[in-house]
Amino acid sequence: MSEEPGRITRRFLTSPVRDVHALLRGRMEALGITVTLDAAGNLRGMWLPQDAQAKRLIVGSHIDTVPDAGAFDGVLGVALALELVEMARDQRLPLTIEIVAFSEEEGVRFGVPFLGSRAVAGRFDATLLTLQDRDGVTLNAAIRAFGLDPGKIADAVIGDGVSGYFEMHIEQGPILESENLSVAAVTSIAGQSRYAVKFTGHANHAGTTPMHLRRDALAGAAEWIGEVEALATRTEGLVATVGRVEASPNAGNVIPGEVRLGFEVRHVSDAVRREAAETLLGRAESIAKQRRLRMDFNKQMDQPAVPMDERLAALLTETMESLGIPARRMPSGAGHDAMVMAARVPATMLFLRSPGGISHHPGETVREEDVEIALRVVQKFVERLAVEFR
Ligand code: GLV
Ligand code: MN
Ligand code: MN
Repeated sequence: MSEEPGRITRRFLTSPVRDVHALLRGRMEALGITVTLDAAGNLRGMWLPQDAQAKRLIVGSHIDTVPDAGAFDGVLGVALALELVEMARDQRLPLTIEIVAFSEEEGVRFGVPFLGSRAVAGRFDATLLTLQDRDGVTLNAAIRAFGLDPGKIADAVIGDGVSGYFEMHIEQGPILESENLSVAAVTSIAGQSRYAVKFTGHANHAGTTPMHLRRDALAGAAEWIGEVEALATRTEGLVATVGRVEASPNAGNVIPGEVRLGFEVRHVSDAVRREAAETLLGRAESIAKQRRLRMDFNKQMDQPAVPMDERLAALLTETMESLGIPARRMPSGAGHDAMVMAARVPATMLFLRSPGGISHHPGETVREEDVEIALRVVQKFVERLAVEFR
């Protein structure tokens, strides 16, 4: 279910998303789950137990992907949420479970991530509707084209009856593998800053324009990208990436007149992250000045680091211990819907080992034995939650 043949690319509200919804809807309905689609495109499945007073746990992850993605980032968490409901149903747990297949987490189509979870957590700012994708389609128009009503996004917000949020996800890094562990409880999620950066020079003939008379936007961008890498390399725990480069006119015999870049910075400390972003944007400005270029930037996101709920994380690690599974706790470098949901309800996550530490790549995978262990943990965890939430 992809926008492109031969590789997985599934951006927010594109046509393969309809196929994913149809598949999930069928599976959920077969389990007796009531399915709805909210105005932000989140597919939601409500499992109601016999006990009408039962507290509600939301279990979710996302179904959008990066370009040329693997099969497990986000999707595994949604698939496991279905397993979780099946186990809760068979055990007759007095727990209402709402599965949410979040529509947008990666920020690929509109540059801004967490569009789905923002709507559910009540943090969807209406100005987001004016964002445009690379084809000039606004978020508002994309929602309408999918058959939904952007005016109803406020209805997607969860009410007061929700006691917690839980997300299962691949680690997307090498730590669990290096320690030969299957799963870990997530303690916090690193903050991220994302910017659109543009260098503007002058396009001209590559054969006739002497080097000293050029205003090459791509050469300026390249110099800056080197500095981004160097600063992150010498700053403990900092990661900084220029992951998108669009040069224009992008022809071999034309000096690049304009370059648009996607730039992001992450760190568990918000102060370190913000300082690094400011320093690097300052360097971009200086490099542009020296080269007679113009530099503009636009902040797309400043998401602070988010701690997971201590009580839920402790319950998760105690459950692991009770099953003889090492109670590893770790922070997440990747962003997750859990960091948005945590602003509204107590939230926690379980990571599963990522073989080879590979993610955001088709080589991404997961071991069946780790999935089995995760499900054993989760079965006990929700049993305890059903008691804890009373
Ligand atoms: C989401 O995958 C992220 O970029 O952290
Ligand atoms: Mn991802
Ligand atoms: Mn993800």
